[in-house]
Amino acid sequence: MEPVTDGVEDLEINGKSVEDIVTPWTVNSKNDAGVDYDKLILRFGSSKIDQELLDRFEKITGKSCHRFLRRGIFFSHRDMHTVLNLYEQGKPFYLYTGRGPSSDAMHLGHLIPFVFCKWLQDVFDVPLVIQLTDDEKAIWKNLKLEEAIRLAYENSKDIIACGFDVKKTFIFSNLEHIGNNVAFYQNMIRIQKSVTFNQIKGIFGFGDSDPVGKIAFPPTQAAPAISSTFPFIFKDAIVPCLIPCAIDQDPYFRMTRDIAPKLGVPKPALLHSIFFPALQGSQTKMSASDFNSAIFLTDTAKQIKNKINKHAFSGGQATVEEHRRLGGNCDIDISYQWLRFFLDDDDKLAEIEKNYTSGALLTGELKKELIEVIQKIVAEHQERKKAITDEIVKEYMKPRDLGFKLTNNSIK
Ligand code: TYM
Repeated sequence: MEPVTDGVEDLEINGKSVEDIVTPWTVNSKNDAGVDYDKLILRFGSSKIDQELLDRFEKITGKSCHRFLRRGIFFSHRDMHTVLNLYEQGKPFYLYTGRGPSSDAMHLGHLIPFVFCKWLQDVFDVPLVIQLTDDEKAIWKNLKLEEAIRLAYENSKDIIACGFDVKKTFIFSNLEHIGNNVAFYQNMIRIQKSVTFNQIKGIFGFGDSDPVGKIAFPPTQAAPAISSTFPFIFKDAIVPCLIPCAIDQDPYFRMTRDIAPKLGVPKPALLHSIFFPALQGSQTKMSASDFNSAIFLTDTAKQIKNKINKHAFSGGQATVEEHRRLGGNCDIDISYQWLRFFLDDDDKLAEIEKNYTSGALLTGELKKELIEVIQKIVAEHQERKKAITDEIVKEYMKPRDLGFKLTNNSIK
């Protein structure tokens, strides 16, 4: 199994120099264009989302692919063909994703898996469980438990604002929910029994002076990938799980897939995204711990404009004359890269790429396009979030029947 190492700064894994570091805690690349995702697929042993899979996706669902699929933003998978087979045969599956609430506000990068999950939930009409790992953040960030729970509630408003259907979505804080759900705790213990300290060290790279909470945590993130963790949703059914996330979370689920046969449960399938890059460039992902690297969902229109104008790494040339002559480099230009994630109009995006590459479009003009797109997305998000009251949050967080029925092997 690919080992990951906590907090490595010198792009080394187990003493070997590598081009890119991708772990749940660190994303670092030596290349201006960011992580080499084709190499990462080989290293992690996942599969590329190729045209054949996209065609099959459209054929089976009858829906056009989301821009994240069309543009290779979700680029890698494990067992997605199996999920499509299930859907084709009218058999059920569910979606699982999560968030580690470490800051009051989520950033644009965090939106990626949630925007995609909302779309998948609409396309497949399936239940979704969302884990808020306030326990993880209390341990890693040394937060008081009460503060971690508060952040979980605060973040859940951003998540709900993505538009999830309350009838099909269960959101939970680990610190509050697990103590009230014996099935969850029992599955955690089943997983803890099945993984050795050596395996955890090998996968996550924890050291002797790390708190034991870190070593014990991975089974807590694994347990929601097993349907019997949620008896109030799935009753006695063994239901396969599909997990959309950025590829940094894959180590947790490589571990889960390894032990699934021992526990007699299906291996979870995965859809992996690339990272939404930091403002300063694609060598690293957008991260909440660096204020200037990120646009937060609480930022004002003015803050968005200033941050983009001041910090967005440009693939343009040093002078207007040179830019007109040589053109810009979209591969490393953050404004263009961000538009790939958030500008839905394929024709407009292609036109921007053509004009920036030829030098007809200047960096300032490209930034202006981006500022308008991001200001609109954030303002609309803030409007939706305003309407989310504490009562609404409680609805999503109540353990309850989500209308799941296993009739004739079909979800309906
Ligand atoms: P967290 O809070 O670090 O991230 C939440 C989700 O957002 C993804 N993500 C990003 N995606 C694209 N670009 C970025 N710059 C970026 N930064 C973060 C993460 O991959 C993740 O999907 N331990 C987890 C919480 C968790 C979880 C899960 C995540 C619990 N169960 C199941 C995914 C699936 C965490 O701290 O995520």
